[in-house]
Amino acid sequence: MKKLEGDLEGFVKQAENAAERIRNWVAQGEFIDIFTHNDADALSSAGIIAAALRREDARFRVRSLNRIDDFIELFNTGYVESKCIIFTDMGSGYTSELLPLLGNKSVAILDHHEPVQASLPPEWVHVNPHHYGFDGAREISASGVAYFVAKAMNPANVEYSPIAVVGALGDLQDKNTQRSLHGLNEYIVAEAVENKLLEVKDDIILYGRTFRPLHVSLAMTTSPYIPGISGNEQAAYSFLTSLGIEVKEGEQWRTLADLSEEEKKKLYNGLIEYLVSRNLPTTIANELIGKTYDLVKESVWTYLSDAREFATLLNACGKSGKAWAGILVAMGARSEALEEAQRILEEYRLSVARAMDYVSQPGVLEELSHIVVLKGGDVIDYRQVSSVASILSSSGLLPSDKPLIALANAGKTVKISARASKQLVDRGLNLGSILSRLGAQFGGKGGGHNIAAGAEIPYDHMIKFLAELDKAVGENVASSKGEVTHND
Ligand code: C5P
Ligand code: C5P
Repeated sequence: MKKLEGDLEGFVKQAENAAERIRNWVAQGEFIDIFTHNDADALSSAGIIAAALRREDARFRVRSLNRIDDFIELFNTGYVESKCIIFTDMGSGYTSELLPLLGNKSVAILDHHEPVQASLPPEWVHVNPHHYGFDGAREISASGVAYFVAKAMNPANVEYSPIAVVGALGDLQDKNTQRSLHGLNEYIVAEAVENKLLEVKDDIILYGRTFRPLHVSLAMTTSPYIPGISGNEQAAYSFLTSLGIEVKEGEQWRTLADLSEEEKKKLYNGLIEYLVSRNLPTTIANELIGKTYDLVKESVWTYLSDAREFATLLNACGKSGKAWAGILVAMGARSEALEEAQRILEEYRLSVARAMDYVSQPGVLEELSHIVVLKGGDVIDYRQVSSVASILSSSGLLPSDKPLIALANAGKTVKISARASKQLVDRGLNLGSILSRLGAQFGGKGGGHNIAAGAEIPYDHMIKFLAELDKAVGENVASSKGEVTHND
């Protein structure tokens, strides 16, 4: 494991402070409200904290929100009666909005978004890796932060270390040349491995690689997205047979795990040739090679044994308005909760596949001077536009020198999901700070990370907002040209 560059001791101390606060709330019999975002990392982080509270016999409830404005609305309708509130995967970027509402409450923010304000009331505790020199976009996610706090509450919570890994993978913190987790994430992985909860291997990263027929597995893989194969089982089947790879052994379908090393090489080389023949970047094939993270206590026949698939399951629940099922599964529930989550996943996959078909229609993508705009309108569900944006930005179908700005209607506002390539981030682009500034300027809200950010903007301001965003991205990249901010 590479030496950590941030202040681990300071970060752990702050996690312990938060744990002590939360334990005191429990000891005083306080009812605790947990609020979280709606993606896999959000559900994992809330699941870890909820499980830690359950272990302490605490009284609590969990609620997932699509955006920070939903919290403000709930607050204004009197929903938030409890004195003690925990935010996971949200809050750090919005302390100035939360302070006027919650100034007299006890609040714990366990988040990895870039913090905007340093001075908070003494009754608040804020655990954020950025305060200790760790990059919350790449080195630890909200689930990792929640895990450090949970473990400080009770060492037995080490059992949730694999869920912290699931959250980090859900946030695509493995998007590097080795498809592996780094920084504090690597520290958590090591703990999970040591406790015989996780197994890490080098492999081809296909969805359902241990139990699905190879062609199904290939077609189901969308991270990275392989144009012409992802979402198309027939095409995946023809591709494999054209390479001379046997898809069946007798009557039995073969899985990736059944392939010899020789056959895996053939598959990888075949993919490179396929991409070259279609004028697509070969980096797509490289993104299929890397570390796999398996939860050894889970059955290989479920979506839970591969941490990336577990994350997709949680994402599906959160982005279909059924976060409860995902949070229960993250907390350890199986049987009915898992069955429901798997059903939600099937529907979600169909919905995302329909959205990807729509994206390929003429006129849906529009290239401006410095950005590419995906006009999702009412066709793409606003809760799923972020998944579509992440998939599309891994497809090689977009120019790597312009960020993707994906839009979907959400009533009177437009939901925006922005994604940049690593090259653009290395050149200094910070989508999070641009969207935070422009969001406020146009009467909405925005924020996030340098590489992936989002916003909600009133529908009527969209045209002007996009023009300003185009300009701001151009200026941001031009002003920091040549600077390299990351180097992995
Ligand atoms: O709220 P939060 O930080 O958890 O969400 C980050 C989002 O950004 C996730 O939906 C993740 O999939 C996305 N992401 C991405 N590409 C990256 C890093 C993150 O699409 N390289
Ligand atoms: O929604 P989406 O996955 O595109 O969001 C990307 C990142 O931007 C996430 O980390 C999310 O928490 C953050 N975001 C934000 N403020 C918003 C919308 C998204 O901080 N208004």
